[in-house]
Amino acid sequence: MSQTIKFFLNGQKQQASVRPDMTVLGWLRSAPRLTGTKEGCAEGDCGACSVLIGDPAGDSVHYHAANSCILAMGQIDGRALVTVEGLKTGDLHPVQAAMAENGSSQCGFCTPGIVISLAGLAASTAHPDDHEIHDALAGNLCRCTGYRPIVEAARKVTGAAIPGPEVTAFARMEPQKAITAGGSTFHQPQTLAELLQLRKDRPDALLLGGGTDLGVALADYHADWDEVISLAHVREMRAIGETGNHLSFGAAVTWEEVLARAAGSYPSFATLIRRFGSTQIRSMGTIGGNIGTASPIGDGPPALIALGADVELASLNGRRFMALEDFFLDYRKTELRADEVIASVSIPKPKPGQDFRVYKISKRYDQDISTVCAAFCITREDGQVRSARIAFGGMAATPRRAQAAEQALVGTQFDAKAVEACAAAITAAFKPLSDWRGSADYRLQVAANLAERFWRDVSGETVEVMAL
Ligand SMILES: Cc1cc2nc3c(=O)[nH]c(=O)nc-3n(C[C@H](O)[C@H](O)[C@H](O)COP(=O)(O)OP(=O)(O)OC[C@H]3O[C@@H](n4cnc5c(N)ncnc54)[C@H](O)[C@@H]3O)c2cc1C
Ligand code: FES
Ligand code: FES
Repeated sequence: MSQTIKFFLNGQKQQASVRPDMTVLGWLRSAPRLTGTKEGCAEGDCGACSVLIGDPAGDSVHYHAANSCILAMGQIDGRALVTVEGLKTGDLHPVQAAMAENGSSQCGFCTPGIVISLAGLAASTAHPDDHEIHDALAGNLCRCTGYRPIVEAARKVTGAAIPGPEVTAFARMEPQKAITAGGSTFHQPQTLAELLQLRKDRPDALLLGGGTDLGVALADYHADWDEVISLAHVREMRAIGETGNHLSFGAAVTWEEVLARAAGSYPSFATLIRRFGSTQIRSMGTIGGNIGTASPIGDGPPALIALGADVELASLNGRRFMALEDFFLDYRKTELRADEVIASVSIPKPKPGQDFRVYKISKRYDQDISTVCAAFCITREDGQVRSARIAFGGMAATPRRAQAAEQALVGTQFDAKAVEACAAAITAAFKPLSDWRGSADYRLQVAANLAERFWRDVSGETVEVMAL
């Protein structure tokens, strides 16, 4: 078993013999003293700690921004890490030059993170539009400059590569099967069979998707991960598939990858995913992790339940499939057994006559947690509702369907009276909690109102309030 994490740091081969659960931010600022990467919130929210992570993709290297404060050193083994110092090779990187020329920085604390996010955007998109620029910046907080000069600088950059290793170099830097140092062991199975064997042999080891949930505890509470099984390199769980009727996503597919594949089929789901954390969070966080965390306010489950998604659970004893709503048993309790993993999620393709919308209600448009998330899916034939699925997050201890509300729509012409009955059934179905995000009364009222919003949207009466 290796005792060293191996990766590329700013283009050069690097080894680090540290606990694999040390945060990348902690390591960068201590060992190589690359202090351009800042610590702000230490929980994935502010973007001051942003770095670029590179992986081979076909004949090039694909880079995305990530929050190094919630990223463990083990997670960069076999990958390329680029910090703000690594962007400047002789001349300033075009993003750095545009930021400097445009006066886009005042105190400068946020600036390295913003440069990283915009460099990631410039590498993937030659002429980003304002939506893409705003999306790239949604995870970067600037409290003194204001975003106008930053956005203006971003508009001036027309594509720029990230300095880093050639794609061929990754063949000699593959993720290692296991790393152990300082009492922390980090397994990186490459196949589902290897993963399931590890899961059986080590039922207490932590299953790690992208670590955007688990990493917050790592950073905030200095949690120790003594034994981790990372899912990031399990081939079957990184796959996206398609059959005649379904799209399927391996559990370790990131939200950014789900977005790219699902946007054409489910535009409203895509709008929701764009509001899921930030680019940094979506590039690491996985669809399986969002289900595995079983949060009552997770955004994926309500949408997926309303779409009729199934989840596949796998262990050495075989596979089982269930409707996603049946996976959640009670607050943070799920069907998952100690030797099982969530292997994949499969979503039915849109049917003729189907209308789907999902709404996230939160205090802030970007980078915020839902107060209520509501998803509605109906199928109509000759104007009559044949089937309906309605699911909510933030209204109960688990993401939940509102079956009586669905029944209030089925068989109707989807008119005002039916929608009123549906809204009343929603109010009767839930007893939500009051917390600082919203009172129980507020949640009930919003949830019921969203039935009307859905009706008006589908009837063509309303437009997206913010077309971001
Ligand atoms: C700043 C910030 C913003 C966020 N914004 C949002 C948001 O807008 N909406 C939202 O819903 N969430 C949000 N999250 C939460 C988080 O990003 C998501 O829940 C994400 O999908 C988690 O995926 P992950 O792979 O990072 O999970 P991890 O942190 O790796 O794991 C989460 C849990 O799931 C388990 N798990 C992971 N994969 C599997 C598997 N395949 N099988 C079984 N168990 C598994 C892990 O053991 C762990 O218990 C945010 C988090 C942060 C830090
Ligand atoms: S320090 Fe704020 S996102 Fe990492
Ligand atoms: S320049 Fe001060 S926080 Fe952005």
